[in-house]
Amino acid sequence: MNLLNLRQDFPVLQKNPGLIYLDSAATSLKPRCVIEAMDAYYNEFTANTGRGSHRLSRAATEKFEKAREEAAGFVGAKESELIFTKNVTESVNLAAVSLERMGHFKGGDEVVVGFFEHHANLIPWQQLCERTGGKLKVVKLNPDFTLDMEDLRRKVTKKTKMVSMAHVANTVASIQPVKEIAGIAHDSGALCFIDGAQAVPHLEVDVKRIGADFYGFSSHKMLGPTGIGALYAKEELLGKMPPYNYGGGIIKSVSFERTEFSGGRAKFEAGTQPIAEALGLAEACRYLKKLGPGNVHDHEKKLTARALDAMGSIEGLGMYCPNDPDRQAGVILFDVKGIDPLDFGVALDESRNIAVRTGFMCAEPVVRSINPKGLVRASFYLYNTMDEIRILGEQAMAIRRSFG
Ligand SMILES: Cc1ncc(COP(=O)(O)O)c(C=O)c1O
Repeated sequence: MNLLNLRQDFPVLQKNPGLIYLDSAATSLKPRCVIEAMDAYYNEFTANTGRGSHRLSRAATEKFEKAREEAAGFVGAKESELIFTKNVTESVNLAAVSLERMGHFKGGDEVVVGFFEHHANLIPWQQLCERTGGKLKVVKLNPDFTLDMEDLRRKVTKKTKMVSMAHVANTVASIQPVKEIAGIAHDSGALCFIDGAQAVPHLEVDVKRIGADFYGFSSHKMLGPTGIGALYAKEELLGKMPPYNYGGGIIKSVSFERTEFSGGRAKFEAGTQPIAEALGLAEACRYLKKLGPGNVHDHEKKLTARALDAMGSIEGLGMYCPNDPDRQAGVILFDVKGIDPLDFGVALDESRNIAVRTGFMCAEPVVRSINPKGLVRASFYLYNTMDEIRILGEQAMAIRRSFG
């Protein structure tokens, strides 16, 4: 990958010289081609999709459905298996609520999640259990912050109706063996949902190879715009599941007495769709495909190795991740003894223009278990350089000394 050329594709980097953006796990920067793809919709062929007989509407519909094909293909799915949602959060809520309406959960049933879950993959299941009289079971982590697979095997029982797990943890960074997790769920007759928010931007993901029933991801973390995400679901399930949102665009026929809904995924996309966002997401997929997801991951592994090395040598700095670039994503979660994490983040920003995330990162249970005040997270992506990681290490060391 030619990093110098690549960085020129990102207007935010051009407009903010000196910015060291290490907050891609929260949201990634967007390349110019993504912004232009969205602009083209507004400048050249604005129209609603799926409902007009005029040419502009047909053009918008055609491009929108091509965008779905592109996004589905990016994770190895068919377009008939990919529902556009707002984000992963909505993907999880959709699956939970629709399965509940289908009667998949009853009192005493169990849902199994990991200790590291983001709130998006925790609260929808927790609330579902509250509504249905079910039980939420939480799988422990190993001391190196990877998932304790033995504990998973113990906790998945005949009562388990859903195993829902982050492919990559947004805090402790571990990469989960998701194929094995789906196999364990299926062996007990449970369904499996994989939260791919932190995986699809960085790894080569093939939903068919993983074999989970559901797989969710968000566009804004993978160079695409905010406002759109996706849910892959197996077609046989989509056929049986009832709609999540009700409204226009999901029906075969309507009278005041009753409604007959469309089949398959079409019944899950009520209302006007995020059209420009879908075009932006498709462009982001093309951009990533051109670079090669394998190359992106290799580059991030090198950054991670350098960061583990640099940060690991700072006295009083605690790191909470597997400490192994092969088993973790490009995320370093840390704190420094005696320094409030928020102060540390502000100091990085003000001293060297280094943008990191601080606090609980929407994964309060795991972060609070490590430090009740929160933590600092530096996260890397394809536009970050070795030099930036060197500066992070040097600056972290300088800040520790100045507070010390
Ligand atoms: C692992 C994980 N799951 C879910 C989400 C929620 O993503 P979104 O806010 O796009 O719905 C995030 C966002 O940080 C995440 O990191």
